[in-house]
Amino acid sequence: MAHDLFEAARDAMKFAHAPYSKFPVGAAIRADDGKIYTGANIENLSFPQGWCAEPTAIGCMIMGGGKKIVEMAVIAEKLALCPPCGGCRQKISEFASASTKIYLCDEVGVQKTMTMDELLPLSFKTDILG
Ligand code: THU
Repeated sequence: MAHDLFEAARDAMKFAHAPYSKFPVGAAIRADDGKIYTGANIENLSFPQGWCAEPTAIGCMIMGGGKKIVEMAVIAEKLALCPPCGGCRQKISEFASASTKIYLCDEVGVQKTMTMDELLPLSFKTDILG
């Protein structure tokens, strides 16, 4: 089931633009519309301007019409079970629920499954901002 997401994340990683870190990352989202949206990290010579694979995938989901992340896979060529960075966890949580599954992969497939709540307990939320 999650294997197709793993394959999509692995294929997306090939599009990484990571000439500075040389650390390609791929991400794949299964969205509430049933479609898979993918992304890779895109770096910039002005280093802080680069961004991670996860927001690329989130951007593709939003522009493709998806609204919610049903499940998500992340893979990095040089680090098995690469966990999404802290900023990405907050970005993912905007479109996920506490029980949304995040699959951490190595080169052969999904090796660890975590829920959004395990990845980001006590995420930033407030009714004041709507
Ligand atoms: N990276 C991601 O794409 N996702 C993460 O969650 C961790 C880090 C990227 C950012 C940068 O291009 C490279 O990995 C090294 O930090």
